[in-house]
Amino acid sequence: MISKVFVTLTLAALALAAPAAEDAFEKRAGPAQVITRCTVPNTAALTFDDGPYIYGKDVVDTLDKNGAKGTFFYNGMNYDCIYDQNPAATVKYAYDHGHQVASHTWAHKHLNSLTFDQVHDEMWRVEQALLRITGAYPAFMRPPYGEYNANVLKVAGQRNQSAVIWDLDSGDSTGSSVAQQKAQYDAVVSRHPSTVLSLEHEVYETTAHQTLQYAITKLKGAGYRLVTVAECVGKQPYQSVSAPQSRTSDWHC
Ligand SMILES: *[C@@H]1O[C@H](CO)[C@@H](O)[C@H](O)[C@H]1NC(C)=O
Ligand SMILES: [Zn+2]
Repeated sequence: MISKVFVTLTLAALALAAPAAEDAFEKRAGPAQVITRCTVPNTAALTFDDGPYIYGKDVVDTLDKNGAKGTFFYNGMNYDCIYDQNPAATVKYAYDHGHQVASHTWAHKHLNSLTFDQVHDEMWRVEQALLRITGAYPAFMRPPYGEYNANVLKVAGQRNQSAVIWDLDSGDSTGSSVAQQKAQYDAVVSRHPSTVLSLEHEVYETTAHQTLQYAITKLKGAGYRLVTVAECVGKQPYQSVSAPQSRTSDWHC
């Protein structure tokens, strides 16, 4: 009770004394925005979860070859450790080629079962890794399994992250065959919504080498612009951008 009264009084004081400070406080402390769809008409955002892994570079090359941009929601420690030489190089490669790098949290845990401090820890570790490797501080995260609760959104809000879900699941992580995945893109193209925010995973060979080119061809053929999540909602991808850091002994999982 005491702290709630204190916060209320503090907010009231800020509102009277300094509207700008109140805005900053609310930005920091309010729950994260949840993005479930793109808002810029005629955009499609392809998103790739669970990397960095061995097919990530091929995914970037396929996007590049087609003049498309993608968004990578990286874990710190999932299929690979983000700090190992090749995974770190894959993250840097995606970033350097103009794709959006974002957080999928550290170890792909079910965030709803974690405490406030544990959620901060899962988010902070991978934000730090992305900052070290690319120099950019991400502004977007995707909770593993798309699972979030008030606690998760509170922490994400404090970390100035938007939480990103999707409105088209390719089914690559839930056992769909390549034919079934392709059928998802056929269906969305014939439905032709204003925008598409799709879920893929860069950790499957079939996603990287079979479904992706099909999805790009279909979506581009239907007139969509293939852009990053940040671009499809008209926001900045990063909280800040600086030079990448040099590897130190602290870069380990
Ligand atoms: C929060 O993130 C936005 C980009 O989404 C950035 O412009 C802003 O400076 C960030 N705020 C803080 C306090 O870091
Ligand atoms: Zn995932």
